[in-house]
Amino acid sequence: MCGIVGYVGKRSAQDVLLDGLEKLEYRGYDSAGVALALDGGIRVVKSKGRLTALREKLAAQQLAQSFCGIGHTRWATHGEPSDVNSHPHSTPHVSIVHNGIIENYGLLKERLAAKGYTFQSETDTEVLVKLIDSCYTGDPLRALQQALAKVRGSYALAVLFRDYPDTIFAVKRESPLIVGWGEGENFVASDIPALLKYTRKYSVLEEGDMAVCTTEGIRFYNEFGEPVERQQLTADWDMEAAEKGGYPHFMLKEINEQPAAIMATVSPRVEDGLPVLRIPELTDEVLRGIGRVHLVGCGTAMHAGMVGKSAIEALARVPAEVDIASEFRYRDPILEKNDLVIIISQSGETSDTLAALKLAKSRGVPVLAIVNVVGSSIARAADYVMYTYAGPEIAVASTKAYMVQMCVLYLFALRLAYACGRLSEAETRRFTAQLLRAPEVIKPRLADCEQIKYLASRYVNTQSCFFIGRGFDYALSLEGSLKLKEISYVHSDAYAAGELKHGTISLITDGVPVIALATQKQVYEKTISNAKETRSRGARVLLFTTKDAVVPEGVADAVIRLDEYEDILMPLQLIVPLQLFAYYMAVLRGCDVDKPRNLAKSVTVE
Ligand code: F6R
Repeated sequence: MCGIVGYVGKRSAQDVLLDGLEKLEYRGYDSAGVALALDGGIRVVKSKGRLTALREKLAAQQLAQSFCGIGHTRWATHGEPSDVNSHPHSTPHVSIVHNGIIENYGLLKERLAAKGYTFQSETDTEVLVKLIDSCYTGDPLRALQQALAKVRGSYALAVLFRDYPDTIFAVKRESPLIVGWGEGENFVASDIPALLKYTRKYSVLEEGDMAVCTTEGIRFYNEFGEPVERQQLTADWDMEAAEKGGYPHFMLKEINEQPAAIMATVSPRVEDGLPVLRIPELTDEVLRGIGRVHLVGCGTAMHAGMVGKSAIEALARVPAEVDIASEFRYRDPILEKNDLVIIISQSGETSDTLAALKLAKSRGVPVLAIVNVVGSSIARAADYVMYTYAGPEIAVASTKAYMVQMCVLYLFALRLAYACGRLSEAETRRFTAQLLRAPEVIKPRLADCEQIKYLASRYVNTQSCFFIGRGFDYALSLEGSLKLKEISYVHSDAYAAGELKHGTISLITDGVPVIALATQKQVYEKTISNAKETRSRGARVLLFTTKDAVVPEGVADAVIRLDEYEDILMPLQLIVPLQLFAYYMAVLRGCDVDKPRNLAKSVTVE
C-alpha cells in the first residue's frame, strides 16, 4: 500500500528512483512522484496515473544532475488520485513521501491552520510535512522526533530537507521500511525488489526507528533517539525473480513457477519420509496439547486457511476455525491458552493480519506465522515462523504464494495428525509422499493452458457468474471466484453447492455461467445434482472434475478433467486451471492483469 524509495549516491537519483518505483508499483499505482535535491533547492515532479506519466514529465526536465532524492508510488487513501494529492508533499524546507495513515490528521490540520499554514491537497501526508516544517529549526532529527511525537497512526517515511541535500532521513512505524547498503551509495525502500538491481544487502527498520542515509553510510536511532545497530541481511532473491523472464505478465510467470515453489517449500520439511515443522518448540508433545487451531488471514491467504482448516480437521481431528483478520481483531474471539493461532500472509505486512497476531499474543496464545517475506513485520512479531519459499510475488493477484501456503498447512496438518496418533506412520508417509509429488501433478495442468484459454474465449462476454463446490471444492470456489473478479472485473460469487437453492438460485437464468467444482469423491454426486439444478434453469455449466469421474449426460456444457490424486490434496491441482481461467479471461477482456484497478499488493491500512 504505497511504495517509497530514497537514494543518495553517485548515480543520477531520478533513474534509481524510477527503477525502484517500477518494482514497487505493485503497492499502488494511482500516482507517482519524486523530490530531488538540486542547486540548493528541492525539485518536485509528480503525476496522477501510472509511472509512465511521471517518466514522461521527468524526461522534459533537466534533473539528471541530482544525486539524492525520494520517490513514491501511491495507493490513494485520503483524497482521490490526482496530481495535487500525489506525493511527495513539500514545504520550501522539506519534502516527504509516506506510506501509512495519520489518524489524527484532522486535529493536527486545524492546529497548523491556526498557525497560518494553508493546504492544497486532501491528504494526511500534506498535514504531516507541514507539521515537520513547523518543528524545524535547523535540526532534522529533532524536527522529526518532535513532529512524530504528536502523530497517531502508521507511517514509513522518506524525508529530504533542503538544508541537507546529501541526506535521506527514513522513519518507520507500523508500515514496512528497509534500507539498502551500497558502495558509496545507500537506499531506502518499502520492499526488497526495489533494491535488487543495485544491492542485496539491506537492514530492516524496527518500530519507531529512524535511519540517516548519506554516501558515507547509514546511522540508526531507536524510538528514543538513541543510536542503535541494525543487522545487515542479504537478500537471496535474484533480479530474474523480480523480472518477467519472457512471460507477458508476472501473473502467468508466477502461475508457472508453482512447481518450483512447492518443491522449495515442501522438500526441506520432509525428513525420512515424514513431515517436520523445523520449529524446536513445537514438539509432538506440544502439538498433542493443542485444543483448537485458529487460522487467520485476509483474502487469498484466508482462503488458504480454509483449505488448512479442512485438512487439519480431516487428518488430525483437531477443531479448527478460520477467521478473516479484520473480523477476528474486533470480535473478541474466544481463545484458550492451549490454542494455536496460525497467521497466514504473503507480504507479512497486512495491517489487519498483523493486528490479529498482536491480539492473539496479548491473550497469551502462541502464534505461528506462515509468511513469504523474510523479516517482515508479521514474521518478526510471531512466536514461530514457517516461511513459504515462493520467491517474490509481484502480480497483485496472489497465485504461487497461495499454493505454498496450502502446502505448509498440509505439512502442519500431517505432522499434527501424526503427533496426535490420528494417522499411523505408514499413512503419514503415504500422504507426505503424495504431497511431494505435487509439482509433477500440477505440471500437466500448466500444460493445459491452451484448452483453458479456449474456454475463457467462450466465456469472455460474461457479466456475472457463480462458482459452486463442497468441502475443499467450496474453499477453491471462493479462491477461483476471487481471482476471476479481481483481475477480469467479471462479477462472480462462490457458494457451497448445497446452499445455492436457499436463495441465490433465483439469479440463475439462461446463459449464466456456473463453474462447478466436483473433485471430492465423497460429495461428488451431491455436487453433480446441484450443477444439474442450475443447468435445468438455463445455466452454462463448466465442470471441473477428475479423469475417472462419470459425468451424467446433460450436466455440463464443458468438462475439464484433472488427474486422479488424493482428495485432500486436490486443491493443489484444481487451483491451477482456475488461476489460468481467471488469467485468460482478464487478458481477453483487455484488463491490466498484474495491476488491477483499485488494488494494491500489500494492504497496510485497515
Ligand atoms: C488476492 C490477494 C489478496 C491477498 C490479501 C492478503 O489475489 O492477493 O486477497 O491475499 O490482501 O495479503 P497478504 O497475504 O500479503 O497478507
